[in-house]
Amino acid sequence: MKSYKIKILASGLTILILSSMAFISNKENQKKQYHYFENPQVCSGCHIERFITWNNSQHSKGFTGDFFQAQYYDVVLPSMKLDEKLSEANKDCIGCHSPSAFLSGDMIPPRTVEPDNHWNKSDGNKTRADRGIFCDFCHTLDRFENDPAFNHDYISHATEEVDPKRADLIFPWSPHHETETTEVFEDANICGTCHNELNPYDVWVKSTEYEYSKSVYFTRGILCQNCHMQPMEGKPAKMGWQRPLNSNHWFGGGFTGFVEGAAIASIIEIPEIVSPGQTIDFQIGVEAVATGHNFPTGSVEERDVWLHVSLNKIDGKEVLHIPVPLNKDDPNDKYFITSNDKVAYASHSTLSEPMERDGLPEGDRLYHSAFLDSEGEFTYAQWLCVEEIENRLRPLEERIEDYSFSIPENLPEGEYLLTAILNYRRMPDPLADYLKVDRRPVIQVSKDVRKIVVR
Ligand code: HEC
Ligand code: HEC
Ligand code: HEC
Ligand code: HEC
Ligand code: HEC
Repeated sequence: MKSYKIKILASGLTILILSSMAFISNKENQKKQYHYFENPQVCSGCHIERFITWNNSQHSKGFTGDFFQAQYYDVVLPSMKLDEKLSEANKDCIGCHSPSAFLSGDMIPPRTVEPDNHWNKSDGNKTRADRGIFCDFCHTLDRFENDPAFNHDYISHATEEVDPKRADLIFPWSPHHETETTEVFEDANICGTCHNELNPYDVWVKSTEYEYSKSVYFTRGILCQNCHMQPMEGKPAKMGWQRPLNSNHWFGGGFTGFVEGAAIASIIEIPEIVSPGQTIDFQIGVEAVATGHNFPTGSVEERDVWLHVSLNKIDGKEVLHIPVPLNKDDPNDKYFITSNDKVAYASHSTLSEPMERDGLPEGDRLYHSAFLDSEGEFTYAQWLCVEEIENRLRPLEERIEDYSFSIPENLPEGEYLLTAILNYRRMPDPLADYLKVDRRPVIQVSKDVRKIVVR
């Protein structure tokens, strides 16, 4: 374990110098070829269980995923002439989404004919750029150039031979490869190298490791690995020992049950008996309870978490939607209330047509990041972001939302349910439609219900 950690992220100047250094040395020192890395299929022979979990995970779809494919080829490549700063924007995508392509200098690999996603998985028989973030890339890693690591500043140790596989087992032995113990695997930097991203306009468009390093989990020594690769009992390989501890490679995220319960919404103090016409002021608390970083995190420009509040009949049917009141003191509040105004762009606002922003019921509280392009317009293109405006939940933070509504005069007497639902979705429907990829499901994070009698 590292004994200290210098946080350089606060200093813009250091970042500038470091980021250009990282890029130069990455470019000069590391010339690899695809075949320096063994294919995941080879590992599956003995590590089948890890292969299956990897193939379920987004890491296996880093390059071939339908969303990445559409954004990279249809939006990124046509945007690069816009500004000198963007002339190498595609290299950054490849650096994190297909590291063996990056290290082989293959910055525009052939487009995937049949992209995959969470519902349409491939068989995992991937051999070149399509391997995404795969076994032999991670297990031949040597170190990172920065601390904390960011922008694919990894140094790989892969050679033409079958390399020793690096990890942190005690006394491993394998017939296929030598093994080597390194502490890199017990460090958040192995994740930060790709999960922290500084874009060409020096905006931190991804900062999961940085968010984590400010959380209590970091202080308690709980790593990304502890939550995303939970310790489990069993054999790491067909051969080898039954071990009390090794790690589940599932890398659960925003497609899995991991999102359910990640935050809790609770209605605070509401009268039980009310009369038609009565105005009711109440609050809802929203607390991030299970994430080791902000919620949402990662691709924050498209991940949406929103709170839908309504008065429902006993059978659950909505009779009144209760919108969150606009906070007039905060000029940015409009970014945090769902809206279907046509104000969002898939690329730079001068290169694409505006589309509906959220594709959700309007008036709900939204926790996310708004990225603005150089014209001040709302964009889903993180590489074009010049300013981030955000209201995401910090780990263990409880946010209090104020609501006010009037019971309609004509509402029949009887029992009703005041309902608050916190939802998550990976990408707004209008963006999915624009990119011609499958719409992503809505996952319920939390729900609270209070009975109200109208009489
Ligand atoms: C012929 C079987 C076989 C194949 C093929 C194989 N491994 Fe292994 N591997 C093992 C065994 C056995 C162990 C040791 C397990 C133990 O000691 O509990 C092991 C251990 C490891 C370790 C732990 C190293 C450490 O120091 O902690 C890593 C990492 C690893 N393998 C990665 C890979 C990768 C990546 C591939 C594919 C490129 C691969 N293995 C292919 C059998 C295999
Ligand atoms: C994103 C990087 C990454 C990828 C991709 C990855 N691993 Fe690992 N692997 C790790 C880390 C990190 C650890 C150590 C986890 C810990 O100790 O908490 C590990 C540990 C291991 C170990 C040692 C036993 C254990 O579970 O602790 C084996 C064996 C292994 N990985 C095999 C594989 C195989 C096979 C694949 C592909 C099917 C794969 N890994 C893909 C990061 C990765
Ligand atoms: C080489 C770059 C790279 C490394 C190293 C890496 N990741 Fe990732 N990770 C990615 C990319 C790229 C994606 C998104 C792939 C996609 O969906 O297109 C991703 C996706 C994920 C997801 C899934 C998110 C979701 O919403 O489903 C989780 C969880 C995750 N990574 C955790 C980790 C952890 C933990 C580590 C360190 C042990 C790690 N990653 C190391 C690049 C990396
Ligand atoms: C205390 C447990 C915990 C720790 C520590 C933790 N995570 Fe997470 N992570 C979660 C949970 C729960 C979710 C699901 C909710 C969500 O999507 O944010 C999640 C989600 C994610 C996602 C998907 C985000 C999205 O919605 O697209 C990524 C990527 C991720 N984590 C990466 C990391 C990385 C990298 C680290 C370390 C720097 C880390 N996590 C540390 C619990 C944890
Ligand atoms: C510093 C590393 C890094 C760079 C550079 C990077 N990405 Fe990513 N990307 C990630 C990680 C990590 C995730 C997963 C975050 C999450 O799940 O929330 C991700 C997620 C995504 C996703 C969402 C995938 C999904 O299934 O929801 C898309 C699309 C994407 N990136 C496209 C790109 C494009 C296009 C570029 C280049 C302009 C790029 N990325 C540059 C690391 C990077």
